[in-house]
Amino acid sequence: MIGPTDHYPKNERQRSLVTMDVEFWLERWHRREIGWHRNEINAHLQEFWPSLALDRNACVFVPLCGKTLDLIWLVGQGHRVIGVELAEVAVREIFAEQGLTPTVTEMGPFRRYQLDELVILCGDFFDLKPEHLNQVDAVFDRASLIALPPEMRRRYADKMASLMPSPVPTLLVSLEYDQKTRPGPPFAVHRDEVETLFGDRYRIEPLARLDVLAESPNNLKRGLTSLHEQAYRLSPRV
Ligand SMILES: C[S@@+](CC[C@H](N)C(=O)[O-])C[C@H]1O[C@@H](n2cnc3c(N)ncnc32)[C@H](O)[C@@H]1O
Repeated sequence: MIGPTDHYPKNERQRSLVTMDVEFWLERWHRREIGWHRNEINAHLQEFWPSLALDRNACVFVPLCGKTLDLIWLVGQGHRVIGVELAEVAVREIFAEQGLTPTVTEMGPFRRYQLDELVILCGDFFDLKPEHLNQVDAVFDRASLIALPPEMRRRYADKMASLMPSPVPTLLVSLEYDQKTRPGPPFAVHRDEVETLFGDRYRIEPLARLDVLAESPNNLKRGLTSLHEQAYRLSPRV
């Protein structure tokens, strides 16, 4: 489960809250402070992905993908998958941990790693252009929107809209807690903000809200009294 734990050093927190820049994330990977990573497939993905009713060979975009195993699961469903990730070490590990050797090519501002149906673009999400993604049929966002501070979340939503002028079915996994109790990342993103960011293009359906406080002892110690993981299905408005 995602949890606002102590993976981000306090002495960098003020800077990170403002910029959440490339260096911030590369440093996290360099120090292996990647507490968001799970050695299991996301439970919401497994439960709710079928409800998006996609064709097997649909192309799925996974923004800010880290080295999540969810990429491998999506390929296993028959999908073509495109991830984007800043940290090259993460990209290499996606393939290495599966014992796979990708083909690596340069593609404008990105280094493109590919093996069969899995493509990872190593570089900055905000440098993407629609032609980098070709035809995307769906999006899976777990710990991507919530990785970004408030002003960048607006940029993220606008960028998604520019990359996919026709909205596509999306499964979004967010995190809810009282942001006043501690800073992010990960940041709390509640339903009203999801509506503000995506409601003009999508019908937003809450799917499941899991209480994950008990799984986050650091946050109990900090005095958090509520911590929930919330999944949404975003359906294009017709
Ligand atoms: C909180 S992690 C979540 C990773 C993944 N979604 C998961 O569920 O494990 C956020 C990831 O986004 C990457 N990232 C942050 N900003 C990015 C950007 N502008 N472009 C591409 N990747 C970015 C970070 O390096 C990090 O691996």
